[in-house]
Amino acid sequence: MDGITKVFLGTIVANKDISLKIKKGEIHALVGENGAGKSTLMSILFGLYQPTKGLIKVNGKEVVISGPIRAGGLGIGMVHQHFKLVDNFTIIQNIILGSEPISKWQWINYKHAKDKIKAISERYKLEIKPNLKIANASVGMQQRVEILKVLYRGADIIVLDEPTAVLTPQEITSLLAIIEELKRDGKTIIFISHKLEEVKHIADSVTVIRLGKVIENFLAATKTKEEIATLMVGRDLVEVKNLGGNELGEVALKVKNLFVRKIDNKKIMGLSDFNLEVKAGEIVAIAGVEGNGQTELISTITGLIKPEKGKIFFGNKNMTHSSIQNLYKHGLSHIPEDRHKYGLVLEYNIIDNMVLQNISQYPFSKCGLIRSKAIQYYAQSIIQTYDVRGSKSGFALARGLSGGNQQKAVVGRELTRKHKILVVAQPTRGLDIGAIEYIHGRILEEKTRGNAVLLISYELSEVMSLADRIVVLHAGKITGNVNAKNVIRESLGLMMAGQTLEKGETKNA
Ligand SMILES: Nc1ncnc2c1ncn2[C@@H]1O[C@H](COP(=O)(O)OP(=O)(O)O)[C@@H](O)[C@H]1O
Ligand SMILES: [Mg+2]
Repeated sequence: MDGITKVFLGTIVANKDISLKIKKGEIHALVGENGAGKSTLMSILFGLYQPTKGLIKVNGKEVVISGPIRAGGLGIGMVHQHFKLVDNFTIIQNIILGSEPISKWQWINYKHAKDKIKAISERYKLEIKPNLKIANASVGMQQRVEILKVLYRGADIIVLDEPTAVLTPQEITSLLAIIEELKRDGKTIIFISHKLEEVKHIADSVTVIRLGKVIENFLAATKTKEEIATLMVGRDLVEVKNLGGNELGEVALKVKNLFVRKIDNKKIMGLSDFNLEVKAGEIVAIAGVEGNGQTELISTITGLIKPEKGKIFFGNKNMTHSSIQNLYKHGLSHIPEDRHKYGLVLEYNIIDNMVLQNISQYPFSKCGLIRSKAIQYYAQSIIQTYDVRGSKSGFALARGLSGGNQQKAVVGRELTRKHKILVVAQPTRGLDIGAIEYIHGRILEEKTRGNAVLLISYELSEVMSLADRIVVLHAGKITGNVNAKNVIRESLGLMMAGQTLEKGETKNA
């Protein structure tokens, strides 16, 4: 890619004279903060956008990539940061969409498709359930479907836009192995990630972009993680860590003898006899491999599903059968795992998104009339405080923002609303290190504000740096409940795998 410039709407310069050279057969990492312009650049390569200026050469030949089909013809495939899947189609239908094998009478040859998909998924250990609808598939499985889609089409230049952001540690390890396997097959990989550990682990070379421009290009082995981080952010970073020390208050959130069926398979219990208490000023983290009951727990506490048995209390108040609106009224804030499905209305602008739960309350409305000025003022102060970029003072549609900025908007809304209990799932999924540092700092502040925080995260490092107490979930049951201060990573790993440690070691903090 040579001298690529991309201007959106005449004013937003997402890419500025970017030149990028990728060698055949290498793993090239593209790193940079949220909004730096990585996805835009790759969308140009995949034919989704036309560059305002600049040219593209594939195998030495200048090409015009008019659309994804043309990109596919050139052997370019892309796994997008935000899935491009059809919710009410099955996994197999999604994988073959647009490339359906057709048999004699114009029927789709599902048998052929199935065999081919099976071969690829076995070869690369991309585990899927072919007949499951996407709507019922976990985030991790959706990601594997996206990768299968690209492999199914036989691409040999593969762009992976933050593929690990949504995966569990185990899945990341296997994905990295898959990527290395693809490289051995002679495929060329462009790998976008914020996780510099991964970049150091698999990349041959690295290009850092910041604010739409190339900052530096180098061989991965020649720089440390810290040096790369500094190049990305343009300043040095500090690690945020929970040092405890504050007084804990009364129990603010209590979950008692909870039984919940699995969301994607009602025959199985997602949570069985689950108990939990979070005190005011305390951060309790749920650690565990994705799919062990976390989604069921969050959905039940936030009122999206009703439990089979058991109770949920906010303070002394039984909230088990409350409406969602009532939960919000009684002090709940929720930063959901899937910001697109549950965090934002993508077709609304950012301003309207900042008052979704409170629009009927003063000062946002009065006597049933909406007060736009008050809403705008409130939303813009969130945008400013939380450094939500690219929102055009809040008038941009939520859809147009980069993932990290969408997340900052959701975090800003939920932390700014009056609340006592914060349920936060995967708050930094897909975010860059600068934004992670910022959001971690804000979550820690909740302690000093006397709020109770329930953190669900699949990232052990996140759990370990933020929590006071760590509850480990395995197959819907608690396998550990430990003080975060004196726990080691390895024993958490064992508990995540289902082992209950010796008494004493698992004593409540
Ligand atoms: N379709 C679009 N319309 C307007 N602005 C956009 C669009 N896509 C991206 N942008 C803006 O371009 C900039 C770069 O975004 P993006 O390429 O998504 O960043 P990254 O992938 O590095 O996080 C951001 O400021 C973003 O808001
Ligand atoms: Mg991006």
